[in-house]
Amino acid sequence: MKTTPDSAPYQSGFANHFATEAVAGALPVGQNSPQKTPMGLYAEQLSGTAFTAPRTENRRSWLYRLRPSAQHPAYVPFDQGRLRSGPFTDAPPSPNRMRWDPLPVPETPTDWVEGLVTYGGNGDPETQGGAGIHLYAANRSMVDRVFYCADGELLIVPQSGQQRFVTEMGRIEAGPGHVVVIPRGVRFRVEVDGPVRGYVCENYGAPFRLPDLGPIGANGLANPRDFETPVAAFEDIDRPTQCVQKFAGRLWVTTFAHSPLDVVAWHGNNAPYRYDTARFNTINTVSFDHPDPSIFTVLTSPSDTPGTANIDFVIFPPRWMVAEHTFRPPWFHRNVMSEFMGLVTGAYDAKEGGFAPGGASLHNCMSGHGPDQASYDKAVAADLKPHKLTDTLAFMFETRFPIRTTQWAQTTPTMQLDYDDVWTGFAKGDVSQPKA
Ligand SMILES: [Fe+2]
Repeated sequence: MKTTPDSAPYQSGFANHFATEAVAGALPVGQNSPQKTPMGLYAEQLSGTAFTAPRTENRRSWLYRLRPSAQHPAYVPFDQGRLRSGPFTDAPPSPNRMRWDPLPVPETPTDWVEGLVTYGGNGDPETQGGAGIHLYAANRSMVDRVFYCADGELLIVPQSGQQRFVTEMGRIEAGPGHVVVIPRGVRFRVEVDGPVRGYVCENYGAPFRLPDLGPIGANGLANPRDFETPVAAFEDIDRPTQCVQKFAGRLWVTTFAHSPLDVVAWHGNNAPYRYDTARFNTINTVSFDHPDPSIFTVLTSPSDTPGTANIDFVIFPPRWMVAEHTFRPPWFHRNVMSEFMGLVTGAYDAKEGGFAPGGASLHNCMSGHGPDQASYDKAVAADLKPHKLTDTLAFMFETRFPIRTTQWAQTTPTMQLDYDDVWTGFAKGDVSQPKA
């Protein structure tokens, strides 16, 4: 019996204390683990933070399932494919600016797990800091296979194709423009109808949260009610199901005798969610210059240094450009934080070409970067009327630690060996020119 509905509604809010049941009466009332749970379900706490984390940061859910999660044989090593993990030591770290063409769609049947390719990352899941950065390209659904990551929370940015994340805690439909976040440990299967691509930030650190808004006030950027968490949905399938996990950097697999996506009801604030970036309330200048790109932060994983994120997830969505006497594209800069960028659709306003949807770029700690020649020339000559950027969605994973690229990322044919050339043609400033 398959009891996952084809289309399930969502619960609104960010990390709310949700309560949801796929079968009426499955959730215990008034306590978490009564002597006898309704319907003989097994109660299980899923901790997303330490038991003693402060209440404002504490994440945990109680799951009520057909069988205990513990009911499986030992895990054995699973094919690592092109997946790598912190500490990233398989190639010397490089300070060079890098850019990659889109990941090709696989020519052989490849599911979401098999299609993961690690570009780089930093930190170490065992010390719970840093992140892994992966792309994926897949062309078939995971069948009788689920995956979970014990090393970090997964922030997934679909780039092409519709993707269904069938999780223990409900079902999430997503496509380009959505982001999906799956907590550490939550098992899921990815179903597709054709080729798909996307990006993954595997966050080893504190779970993503909404950034503080400071003087912006009580509203703006990503508003809490626009985050959508699935309602409970479960499978009652007695068929062997592989469970692949990433643990301390390696993939492992065991086989359950049944689908482990068998949570009938759950409550708590540690749950997967999706967010539609079209709902992002973009804030920017209405006079001159433009704020730092942190104004576009959707989610942040704080570190132990205030204001210095383990990872920020930042988007560059469609928006009006109205700044007067201002160089409107992103300026030249060197950043103590390291920046990995992807492009879901359209074009990015600092690059006229070469940065394609599905591609990626890396500007590591202190590396000089900014607009390419064509973007610069266009921007300094532009008639600065209000102008709307449309059909564009770039994003950035920005992290306090340098990003160490993998050997694969440094040697793949999709790497653009001529990327430095986008900055070679700039004419020298002329100090003899009269003052403007
Ligand atoms: Fe940058």
